[in-house]
Amino acid sequence: MTESLDLNRSWVADEVLSVLRCLACRGHLKECEGDLVCAGCGHKYPSVNGVVRFVDAQQYAGTFGFQWHVHARTQLDTKESQRSERAFRRRTGFCPEDLAGKLVLDAGCGMGRFADVATRWGAHVVGVDLSLAAEVAARNLAGREAKIFQADVFQLPFAPESFDFIYTIGVLHHTPDCERAFKMLPALLKPGGRIAIWLYSGYNNWYKMSDVYRKITRRMSPRLLHKLCYGVVPLYGIHQVLRKIPLVGRRASGALAYAIPMAFHPDRTWRVLDTFDWYSPWYQSKHTYEEVFRWFESCGLEDLRVIEQPIAVQGRRPLSPEANQPQGEKEMIQCAE
Ligand SMILES: C[S@@+](CC[C@H](N)C(=O)[O-])C[C@H]1O[C@@H](n2cnc3c(N)ncnc32)[C@H](O)[C@@H]1O
Repeated sequence: MTESLDLNRSWVADEVLSVLRCLACRGHLKECEGDLVCAGCGHKYPSVNGVVRFVDAQQYAGTFGFQWHVHARTQLDTKESQRSERAFRRRTGFCPEDLAGKLVLDAGCGMGRFADVATRWGAHVVGVDLSLAAEVAARNLAGREAKIFQADVFQLPFAPESFDFIYTIGVLHHTPDCERAFKMLPALLKPGGRIAIWLYSGYNNWYKMSDVYRKITRRMSPRLLHKLCYGVVPLYGIHQVLRKIPLVGRRASGALAYAIPMAFHPDRTWRVLDTFDWYSPWYQSKHTYEEVFRWFESCGLEDLRVIEQPIAVQGRRPLSPEANQPQGEKEMIQCAE
């Protein structure tokens, strides 16, 4: 298939091509008229709309494909607002000096808002997403040092020890098995490389009702659910009023938020997006530091750090197997904003 790769710009740079592997035989891939073809077994990975596909369906992630096409640029930073950059620091602990010039994997990149931040910091980013969000990310990142693929975190087309840094923000808890999804990633780090993950917190109770509603909302057509979210977010105004009422106001607002959980972002479009993002996913698990530390330690990661926004943890792959003893210290880090 001959495709214009305008969306993914300069095509697969040698750096990225050297770490890509065939899913079928783990052979090296080469470019062939815009597609990727395995030099070993000849398997072809077609480029469609400027994105090479390592999966042939979105599986359970179709609502995300819808969400990121509708809200393609809502969360991208602008000159006036760097919300995604601040969220990136709070959820990964990475700073510009960490990532500059490094090969970085964004696992579950969505429409690419965090890859946008990382490339601004000088990183060379490889983004993967199971859904058609990959097309949106490729468009948003055109002209950047970024290559986007549609691929599944459970079957990634990369050689072991490929990346200097890996981050995955708000993704693994949307897979059928969060722990197994996480455990696919550390082997892709170079020795000494760092991984950061951010997951929904299992310590809260406020989402109990939404877990009940989601059994229905995740079965709705994304278009209808999105319209419903527009109907719900005006409750924000009611919360604002309630909270001004002395003595009982905050309690009343809390009770309403418990009964109808929704996003509280000051920007209305973000509220709709975040509320849709909350009610639409097929899978949505919550996690504790205890279990996440266990996962990191069982993968031999060291120097574990709790990052600012729960549940965010960062760890490092040891330089050598011997360097893995004793387990790294756990500390709280907070990047300067
Ligand atoms: C809530 S969005 C987060 C996107 C992005 N990380 C962000 O924070 O803006 C979750 C993303 O994970 C992707 N995803 C879910 N399961 C995946 C899998 N098995 N492999 C790759 N991506 C996956 C979805 O398609 C979706 O775009």
